[in-house]
Amino acid sequence: MSSLDQYSVFGSPIKHSKSPRIHKLFAEQTGQAMQYSAELVPADQFVQTVKGFFTQGGQGINCTVPLKELAWEYADLRTERAELAKAVNTLALQEDGRVLGDNTDGVGLVTDLQNNHQIALKQKRVLILGAGGASRGIILPILQEAPLTLTIVNRTVAKARTLADEFSHKAKINACGYEDLAGQSFDLILNATSASLSNDLPPLAAGILAAGGSCYDLAYANEATAFVRWAREQQARNSLDGLGMLVEQAADAFYLWRGVRPATDPVIQMLEAERNS
Ligand code: ATR
Repeated sequence: MSSLDQYSVFGSPIKHSKSPRIHKLFAEQTGQAMQYSAELVPADQFVQTVKGFFTQGGQGINCTVPLKELAWEYADLRTERAELAKAVNTLALQEDGRVLGDNTDGVGLVTDLQNNHQIALKQKRVLILGAGGASRGIILPILQEAPLTLTIVNRTVAKARTLADEFSHKAKINACGYEDLAGQSFDLILNATSASLSNDLPPLAAGILAAGGSCYDLAYANEATAFVRWAREQQARNSLDGLGMLVEQAADAFYLWRGVRPATDPVIQMLEAERNS
């Protein structure tokens, strides 16, 4: 390997990952001497590829689908937010040779909401759609902002209940099915289902978004997702997708590795401009 500190994103598929671009911009902006690559790593090659990377002098790895749970297992020690997320998106080699696992997805979402879009969570009624890994990853950072209520809704209600139970030592979380939402309304609706990937929409009743409320899709795409289009129809104050979250989670990974947090605004603006061109 070259003498520059080495970082990489592992996943499968990986071709369309924006992470190498984002981290290159961060490194240029902060004057950090480092290289960041992308590697196609299927789940069955994860452990040997990570070991090889660190043995050859690599300093840190981002993990994406389908490797976040494997990265959680691999880490020698974990931050609390990673522990509860049961998923790790950032591995960092420590001075003593151990590998720290962190999850910066949830804090990335919260930063994008609060800092970039002035959407407060404190004292708000927050609804999370979906009860899979994406939902689990954001719950603790959301709870830390003290929402008035947090509700998880899922097609398979039992999964929502199990997830709520996992965090019951932190706060009370409501869990229900979509039909149970009748008559309720929320200030912020976060789409953490995988429905957007198939241009699908969870079954949301009209009136569920409170007046002045906002919607955020954790997924991002060049075109507006089905959920973002639905949010616009509801006249949400904000109808956002996860591009900002992607950049913010990368900034927190960068901070963990390099001890300096890059300015995210210019990078988000650049990526926004590119997808609108
Ligand atoms: P991830 O790790 O991305 O969260 P996952 O663990 O497979 O992926 O979870 C996907 C989530 O999206 C689940 O909550 C799933 O609901 P079920 O548990 O009932 O299957 C939800 N989901 C996927 N497609 C959906 C759709 N069209 N409408 C509503 N929910 C959907």
